[in-house]
Amino acid sequence: MAESKKSATLTLDGKTYDLPVHSPTLGPDVLDIRKLYGEADVFTFDPGFTSTAACESAITYIDGDKGELLHRGYPIEQLAAHSSYVEVCYLLLYGELPTASQLADFKSRITRHTMVHEQMHNFFRGFRRDSHPMATMVGVVGAMSAFYHDSLDINDPWQREVAAIRMVAKLPTIAAMAYKYSVGQPFVYPKNALSYAGNFLHMCFAVPAEDYVVNPILEKAMDRIMMLHADHEQNASTSTVRLAGSSGANPFACIAAGIACLWGPAHGGANQACLEMLKEIGTVDRIPEFVAKAKDKNSGFRLMGFGHRVYKNFDPRATVMKESADEVLGLLGVDNNPLLQVAKELERIALSDDYFVSKKLYPNVDFYSGIILEAMGFPTSMFTPIFAISRTVGWISQWKEMIGEKNQKIGRPRQLYIGSPKRDYVDIRHR
Ligand code: ACO
Repeated sequence: MAESKKSATLTLDGKTYDLPVHSPTLGPDVLDIRKLYGEADVFTFDPGFTSTAACESAITYIDGDKGELLHRGYPIEQLAAHSSYVEVCYLLLYGELPTASQLADFKSRITRHTMVHEQMHNFFRGFRRDSHPMATMVGVVGAMSAFYHDSLDINDPWQREVAAIRMVAKLPTIAAMAYKYSVGQPFVYPKNALSYAGNFLHMCFAVPAEDYVVNPILEKAMDRIMMLHADHEQNASTSTVRLAGSSGANPFACIAAGIACLWGPAHGGANQACLEMLKEIGTVDRIPEFVAKAKDKNSGFRLMGFGHRVYKNFDPRATVMKESADEVLGLLGVDNNPLLQVAKELERIALSDDYFVSKKLYPNVDFYSGIILEAMGFPTSMFTPIFAISRTVGWISQWKEMIGEKNQKIGRPRQLYIGSPKRDYVDIRHR
């Protein structure tokens, strides 16, 4: 971290404390409070980390007011238009766009790691058939540390690199196996001649009884969905991965923790929840009823796919995803899909409604991704696993960045204690 040139002053009980202020490449200045507790004996209070920078990072930048998302400086719109998911994986992991030979080498390394240990097949069979694929994935990804002992040493850069490649390569295989298991079909082995996205579709939809030809439209849409979810700065699941990793836990355990966090409906689970909501609304005439419910604080209901902690103008990923939805549904000839009609009308009404406008609640990326995934033939239970596959590269890039830091510390937040003051134990007969 560069020496800070600015400082802020905090006055507390008549004493003043100088707090260094760091200026990032982009974004607001950051007050450095690391010495505050030691010098002033106070903590800061920031539940939900709305004003806290928990780390330094050079990977992804988001400007929520401008609706801007940059990976290593490159705008997501440009990447979506010109790049591919695997190229973005390289960019996130290594910091620069690859040359043609670097990309070919990276692709070949990923491709050669797509199979999972054969004994893992038995491990899958221990799950109930009706398990949610995310439940299976949390277990199986965590169990990778029991299968790949030669990439567990986090202090060895080579082992960290192998773990990263293994994770990016095997997550589609694991998610597809979780799906196949849930529908009672045999597992389909990866096919190295296919692209990353095409191979995933193949492992999900091929059956041994007939040939499966990957539809290039769906392959492109899948690639784009993966790219739009690849990384998103210090979101809940990424922060979970970093916190788990800060204790020295192995990378497979850390990614399993990230998957568990992603599953929640306020985060990655929103794509499934959003599509279920659109189905529940069913027809355009029922939208006002649901909008009214979303505005009623006592209902506990939120419009899924709307709102974002950071984007307070628009979600740039949603803009690209919306284009993809129109394109894919048009090309598949399902553009009169009733869900799309409901989604479009809901978006129109919400964007002109005072409640949503004043609270800056815009459709997020998950608002449209579910419609595309359903048109492709995925059940709603696979939406969040697809998010998990896509985000794995972001998690592992952020984990590698953290582990590579010289002064990396275990994450250990403090608290504002509001429990009982110290008191004496009371014998059970006297309570
Ligand atoms: N529907 C209705 N009201 C909403 C919604 C919504 N989707 N989202 C937020 N609000 C309201 C809240 O009730 C609150 O109102 P108040 O100020 O009157 O109390 C205000 O907007 C601010 O909401 P917070 O929950 O404080 O905002 P926060 O930044 O903590 O939450 C979140 C962001 C979790 C994404 C929220 O907007 C939400 O629950 N959205 C629905 C779930 C969703 O789509 N999640 C996906 C996120 S994107 C991703 O993970 C890829």
